[in-house]
Amino acid sequence: MIIDPWSSQKYEYEKLFENFGIEKFDKEIWKDLPDLPFFFRRKIVFGHRDFQKIKYSILRNGKWAILTGLMPSGKMHFGHKIVIDQVIYYQSIGADINIAVADIEAYATRGYSLKEAEKLAIDEYITNYIALGLKPCRIYFQSKNEDVKDLAYLLAKKANLSQLNAIYGFKSSTNMAHVFAPFIQTGDILHVQMEKYGGLRPTLVPVGVDQDPHIRFCRDLADAHRIYSIVPQNERTGIFVKIEENVEDLLKEAEEVVEKYGKVVERNYAYKAIYAKIDDLNKLDYELAKIERKYGGYGFISPSSTYHRFISGLDGNKMSSSRPQYALFLTDTPDESKKKIWSAKTGGAISAEEQKKHGGKPEECMIYELFMYGLIKEDKELEEIYKECKDGKLLCGECKRKAYELIKEFLEELKEKREIAKEKIKDYIQ
Ligand code: TRP
Ligand code: SF4
Repeated sequence: MIIDPWSSQKYEYEKLFENFGIEKFDKEIWKDLPDLPFFFRRKIVFGHRDFQKIKYSILRNGKWAILTGLMPSGKMHFGHKIVIDQVIYYQSIGADINIAVADIEAYATRGYSLKEAEKLAIDEYITNYIALGLKPCRIYFQSKNEDVKDLAYLLAKKANLSQLNAIYGFKSSTNMAHVFAPFIQTGDILHVQMEKYGGLRPTLVPVGVDQDPHIRFCRDLADAHRIYSIVPQNERTGIFVKIEENVEDLLKEAEEVVEKYGKVVERNYAYKAIYAKIDDLNKLDYELAKIERKYGGYGFISPSSTYHRFISGLDGNKMSSSRPQYALFLTDTPDESKKKIWSAKTGGAISAEEQKKHGGKPEECMIYELFMYGLIKEDKELEEIYKECKDGKLLCGECKRKAYELIKEFLEELKEKREIAKEKIKDYIQ
């Protein structure tokens, strides 16, 4: 099994934990964060890698960054909204926000020209992002950022073709711009830690789970370019120097850091290693990366990620702009949305009588899913709908009417906000 970021496969979320080592994003990890958003409470964000690093910074008021990307292909629909909901939340709790417009990737993998990608990105995505409440932040185009492209090329030195094929399963006919797209994405993710873009700090990449191959790849590349490796062992932590130059100086500097936060318990300069007792590995990682930069290394902290579930299309398959009749677009008119909602797949029974008797199945219902993905704000209200549906007290007609009312209001308001947003775009694009 591989995850193909360029396909539209469906996921068995449970398997992702076992097969790929994605960790569960459960209450234990998010409960201390401020203003808990619906996508945490409702388990829409379900998995992560290394989120602890980000939490560490949030709880200590440290610096940290968000970097995510948008693929300008097709129109923006409700499935795309979930990322920006997260970005807006993180912005509200102090993250430094960076958004990549993946115009090179759209060119390399979807057949768009850079011009077309630019227009789509601005008209469809960025305008809606601002209308949805994104405050001024940094949005840039891959094709226009030389640092991102340089970094992609330079980091590529430590990856080879068989590694790429193992992750992505490229064919011998895959065009090379496509093959290079994961490097550009790595450039996106890591460049925010360059001095010019805010410097060394933990970076969170909130994405759909289809993007996990890119995340793994990026984390591997970031680690491959580190000078030190940090290896937690049972009772202690090994710190190894991976290069041949300046080994003694590097070990000495590492010792100084260790003595500040813990204790050196063994030195083995012949193995280019020291061993330490140290509790705060986040701090250690950060301090060592800082040293690496003095010695000409990149010193990137391996990025963290979260994964959200995809919203279903109104027929129960994946929501996608290539199947417009089953997708709710942010630019739909209320009338268009009405038709789609009316023909949506629900968890209702064959007849009203049946449903009153045996109840409906909200867990199989696309209307309920829309409620869950933010259309209904209050958890209490959502729970009530769930229960009344199960008990056969609520029927699908009534529910669809409610969904339509909410969506209509949302779409009309968003349309007005888009008009204001258009004037502000230049405050975002860099
Ligand atoms: N590959 C992403 C997509 O298909 C877009 C993307 C480009 C991205 N660069 C990124 C996502 C960096 C997260 C981080 O949607
Ligand atoms: Fe879905 Fe509402 Fe019908 Fe229940 S009553 S199946 S929640 S539309």
